Amino acid sequence: MKVVKSKIELKQEIYKAKQENKIIGFVPTMGYLHEGHLSLIREAKKECDYIVVSIFVNPKQFNSEEDLKKYPRDYERDLNLLEKEAIDLVFMPEIEEIYPEDPKIFIDMPSLTNKLCGIHRPGHFQGVLLVVLKLFHLVEPNKAYFGKKDYQQYKIIKQMVKDLDMDIEVIGCPLIREDSGIALSSRNARLSNKGYSDAQLIYRALQIAKKEWLKGETKPETLKEIIKDIIETGSLNRVEYIEIVDPENLENVKEAKEGDIIAVAVYTENVRLIDNIELNREDI
Ligand code: PAF
Repeated sequence: MKVVKSKIELKQEIYKAKQENKIIGFVPTMGYLHEGHLSLIREAKKECDYIVVSIFVNPKQFNSEEDLKKYPRDYERDLNLLEKEAIDLVFMPEIEEIYPEDPKIFIDMPSLTNKLCGIHRPGHFQGVLLVVLKLFHLVEPNKAYFGKKDYQQYKIIKQMVKDLDMDIEVIGCPLIREDSGIALSSRNARLSNKGYSDAQLIYRALQIAKKEWLKGETKPETLKEIIKDIIETGSLNRVEYIEIVDPENLENVKEAKEGDIIAVAVYTENVRLIDNIELNREDI
């Protein structure tokens, strides 16, 4: 496994891989890796023969200095985990390498970014789009892997690639949960024991709402109320949003139907957690 920090070194390695006709699979991350990230890498390894992982805590996608500062980091642990996965290349740039000066370009996709998390985190998706576009230009992957825990992010990136005719297949991979049901996230590391048990109510609430939907309840307001009531039994939980959206355009639906997504954002002891569930007939 090779670790590079500069764009030049990265491009040299990518050039060599392309010369050897390797299929490049890319997993962009902000580090503090967990099983969710590793599942993306394992998926990439099934389909590609040269795997690149980037670790870069992108300041442009944080809308609070405090959140950026508190974002967990442990690069040594990350590199050990990646070594075990036997990936080919890690790109770990410093901030100045990615943003030698403040970029003048502004990328947006209002019809998808002005919804769900985008309403509550102004500038977040614009920062994600910017860094992912830059990383895509640098890594030139054939396929790129994103977790569906960040469903909105996955849709936005897929749309960017389509709109800009980029020759990259964007692959959405299933959300991974702990046995407790909590969606894996680097942010979970900031929760206390009580926070952890309150956070477990999030998935429980989504499951109960899905069961109600399976029994015939289709009114979004009723389903949202059920979820809110359950989540708020946790004294450390504060609901930011609960929405039931169409999986393609992320518009709120008037009636919950098969394939729709229930998406939530909850603050548990000031840690922002997101989760979602698809309305389908699969077991929960
Ligand atoms: O999902 C993330 O970890 C980040 O938003 C990403 C895609 C690596 C861009 O910084």
